[in-house]
Amino acid sequence: MADPKAISIDALNALKARKEPIATLTAYDATFAHALDLSGIELILVGDSLGMVIHGERHTLGVSVDDIVYHSRAVSHGLSRAFLVADMPFMAAATLERAYSAAQAMLSHGRAKMVKIEGAGYMLDTIRRLTERDVPVSGHLGLTPQSVLKLSGFKVQGREHAQAEQLKADALAVQQAGAQLLVLECVPARLAAEITRSATIPVIGIGAGPDCDGQILVLYDMLNIGISRRPRFSRDFLLGNGSIDAALKAYVAAVKSREFPAAEHCFE
Ligand code: KIV
Repeated sequence: MADPKAISIDALNALKARKEPIATLTAYDATFAHALDLSGIELILVGDSLGMVIHGERHTLGVSVDDIVYHSRAVSHGLSRAFLVADMPFMAAATLERAYSAAQAMLSHGRAKMVKIEGAGYMLDTIRRLTERDVPVSGHLGLTPQSVLKLSGFKVQGREHAQAEQLKADALAVQQAGAQLLVLECVPARLAAEITRSATIPVIGIGAGPDCDGQILVLYDMLNIGISRRPRFSRDFLLGNGSIDAALKAYVAAVKSREFPAAEHCFE
C-alpha cells in the first residue's frame, strides 16, 4: 500500500498552487536518497548527470537505460516520502519502441514514478504517446545536456529573442503533449519566470532564477565534492554547515525561503 505521506503529482501541483517552492535534488544511491528524504527534499531525480559525477565522463551521453534503472532502484530503497523521477538517457527515446521499453524498465524495475525527457520537436509525439499509455512524463528544456555536442558546449539558452520565443512555445507544447512537470535549465531568470507563470504544471529550475516553482541541483555540486568545477548557478551548502545532513536541511530551507538562488546564481 502507498505511504500516505508519500509525495504524489497532486502534492507537487498543490505546492505550485500555494506558491511553496519544491525542493529537489539528484541522487544516485540509497544512502544519499535516505538522507535527502529525511531532510525534506520533495522530489528526487536520478539524473543522467550520473555519467559525469559517478562515471567521471565529460558529458551524459554514455549513460544507458540499464544504468538509470540500476541507480533508480537503489534510490527507491532509500525513500519513503520523496517523489522519484528517472532520466531518459541519450537516444533511449529515439524511436517509440525504444521509448516504451525504456519507460517500462524505469517505472517497473527502477521504481521511478515519472520519466524525464529532454527536448521538444519530435519528442512531443513521444511525450504524448507515453502519457497516453499512463507513463508520467517530465519535460526538460533550455540547456539540454544531451545536446551538448550540437550546442558546442554547456551554454545558457534563450538569451536571443527568437530562441526565447521558441522556448516559450516549446514549454507550452510539452505541457499540451501531457507532461506533468517541466525542468528548465540555464535560461535567463526573467524568461524562466514568464514560462513558470504561464505553465499550469510545476516548473523546476536549475540556473533559471528564483521564480520557478522549485529548484534542483546536482547533489555533488551542492556539496562541492565534484571532480569538475562547481557550476556558477550552484552553491556550496556544505560550507559552514558542518555535516551532509545540515547541508541538505540548509538547502531545503534556502529553497523554501527563496533565499536560493541569489542574484549571483542567475543568468540575464
Ligand atoms: O541529469 C541531471 O541531473 C539533470 C538535472 C541537472 C536537471 O537533468
